[in-house]
Amino acid sequence: MWDYSEKVMDHYRNPRNVGKIDDADAVGSAGSLACGDQLKIYLKIKNGIVTDAKFQTFGCGSAVASSSILTEMIIGKPIEEVRKITNKDIADQLEGLPPEKMHCSVMGYEALEDALKGYEDYQDLEDIRNDIEPKKEKIVCTCFNITENLIWDAIKQNGLKTVEEITNYTKAGGACGKCKGLIQDIIDTYYKKEEEKNGGLSPAQRILKINTIIEKQISPELQKDGGDITLIDIDGNKVYVKLRGKCSGCKNSMLTLKAFVQSTLRDAISQDIEVIEAGE
Ligand code: FES
Repeated sequence: MWDYSEKVMDHYRNPRNVGKIDDADAVGSAGSLACGDQLKIYLKIKNGIVTDAKFQTFGCGSAVASSSILTEMIIGKPIEEVRKITNKDIADQLEGLPPEKMHCSVMGYEALEDALKGYEDYQDLEDIRNDIEPKKEKIVCTCFNITENLIWDAIKQNGLKTVEEITNYTKAGGACGKCKGLIQDIIDTYYKKEEEKNGGLSPAQRILKINTIIEKQISPELQKDGGDITLIDIDGNKVYVKLRGKCSGCKNSMLTLKAFVQSTLRDAISQDIEVIEAGE
């Protein structure tokens, strides 16, 4: 028996915004009855804001809870913000889902993405006029109709590393298993690209290198002028530091120091590094 949070149980027992919007501006769906879960989401959009959202789902309690909380998360929000919602956000809002049920949060994300894509396509009058063919996405798992893009997004948003995790999150690979080799290829390609982006360094090597550069290169340089730097934390491409300058109270001096630290790290490691002063 899986362990569900109070939030999941609440949304399962009292689902919000169940139903259909007859004059919806966007409709998206995910899953299929043949695969055991299906979700359809309806949106009303006015002046770039989601003014109403409803859903219909056939699936387990986690699918109901994920869909219900998703509608609450998006009503009243601008499309730009809604577009940034990931399956992890849905699971976090539910205070977690068992790993085997994470695919329910992915289904919510997928249906939302489908609705927004349809809405954007509809808005793009130029494409409609020119009758441009929509891009076909490559299907990796034919048993569950799961695309390469969905697997890629699931890896990126949740840091997945194994085929088993991909199956838990997307269902891909969970039936005949023929697609497992392809899924492994996608995982390998994703992490290879990540390493390339990080100058050929693994995440652990990257952290070590940032540490070394700050300690051996940047700190001695700042000390020459009576300043210094303390590394507080590293989170992905964000490097949190505490800076001390000769005239620490002067905003311009601190901005210069920060720019120096950022450009040194960018030159040595990668251009996506962002230096943030702790407490900023
Ligand atoms: S093709 Fe993916 S499980 Fe069958």
